[in-house]
Amino acid sequence: MNILVVGGGGREHAIIMKLAESPKVDKLYCTPGNGGISRYAECFNVGATDIEGVVKLAKELKPDMVVVAPDDPLVLGMVDALQAEGFRTFGPKKDAAIIEGSKVFSKELMKKYKIPTAGYEVFSDSESAIKYVKEQNTYPTVIKADGLALGKGVILAQSEEEAVEAIKSMIDGKQFGDSSSTVVIEEFLTGPEVSVLSFTDGKTVVPMISSMDHKRALDNDEGLNTGGMGTVAPNPYYTEDIAKECMEKIFLPTINAMNKEGRTFEGCLYFGLMLTPKGPKVIEYNCRFGDPETQVVLPMLDHDLAEIFEAIYDHRLADLDIKWKSGCCTCVVMASGGYPVKYEKGIEISGLDDKGQVEGAFVYHAGTKLSDGKFLTNGGRVLGVTCNALTLQGALDKSYEAVKKISWKDEHHRSDIGQRALKALHNDPLDLEYKQDMEDYIEENGVYLRQ
Ligand code: AMP
Ligand code: GLY
Repeated sequence: MNILVVGGGGREHAIIMKLAESPKVDKLYCTPGNGGISRYAECFNVGATDIEGVVKLAKELKPDMVVVAPDDPLVLGMVDALQAEGFRTFGPKKDAAIIEGSKVFSKELMKKYKIPTAGYEVFSDSESAIKYVKEQNTYPTVIKADGLALGKGVILAQSEEEAVEAIKSMIDGKQFGDSSSTVVIEEFLTGPEVSVLSFTDGKTVVPMISSMDHKRALDNDEGLNTGGMGTVAPNPYYTEDIAKECMEKIFLPTINAMNKEGRTFEGCLYFGLMLTPKGPKVIEYNCRFGDPETQVVLPMLDHDLAEIFEAIYDHRLADLDIKWKSGCCTCVVMASGGYPVKYEKGIEISGLDDKGQVEGAFVYHAGTKLSDGKFLTNGGRVLGVTCNALTLQGALDKSYEAVKKISWKDEHHRSDIGQRALKALHNDPLDLEYKQDMEDYIEENGVYLRQ
């Protein structure tokens, strides 16, 4: 098979490396790709949101399959355009990708089909939105732009003042253009977060190994929200009991709901969950592989990824017996100084080789450019230094050892990736309290009592 992957970040690098392991795969193409990807796939200059350009490129390359990885082209309908030209394409069509493309759609879907999520109201004029938050008078409160906003469309307002400011800048100030002309205001939930990516062909849903993202820019979950500064898999909070409950109350109901709405979802459906004291609830859906979740999930996959993509396209996912490796995988993101706000590009990276100069490590490129044989920074998130090992501590130690060997001017990374997960494993007092809450919940609801 020759496969074309659309996208150019760390997630796409991880998809390419997994596809490269497949005995079925002959040649890999990627557009636009990046410096690191260009060593494993032939890269092209067509942007990931350029639907016409990608269709034209596919007509020239005639790949056996196209994989559309990022959110924007999926929401814009790139899969529909490629399938209309006869290309076997992995990813949801536009009418299903709306599950990420519109928060109003996803919240209404969950309400209609009784899928657990935070309570909410929808507003398109700032006056009524402000009146509502003042009446509620409960902080923090959560304000979300309806549409895609580069991962920046969620404000956790700590006070009335912050809520009013967020509402005004989203609705009146068009902070995210049309994406924020409608907002969702929702209840603030608490509890550990879990990312569960799943394969689905609309009939069967196969959850992948769970993971934990670290969204804030700085240590101790301080600083601004980012696309993700690091990940670990599996997520220790996601026990077998919780996984069963999620399958019954969230995963299957979501797949069925999309079918009932005539919007069958085929591809990778990402469940962003919060394990609240009242049980697991959906924080968000993404219509694609997460970034940097993919960098820790796919290395743990013990199955041919190309075969999975084909099975999903042919609606025979149920025939596969997908297995996962044991152990843990960790990814530490190395970013440009100033990310996620303002940062320089084009800085030379030193000490970089694919294998991270540490046994078992691998460096996925998120934003790099290869110029005259040298790697230069070319984005906010630059590298995802990844390692698997039998234990979480072992994987983290190796990831950080590999991070130490790489440097560039103003490089920034979090030094506490995986610490919360380690605490969960070691039952620190805060987590014991949480565990008690979950057990009380499970007992009250009569589900999946531990033996
Ligand atoms: P999202 O972009 O929807 O993933 O939201 C970004 C982050 O905001 C999430 O990962 C959560 O940490 C936080 N968040 C979103 N919705 C809520 C909520 N209802 N309650 C508490 N935190 C939330
Ligand atoms: N890491 C979160 C996302 O991909 O949206």
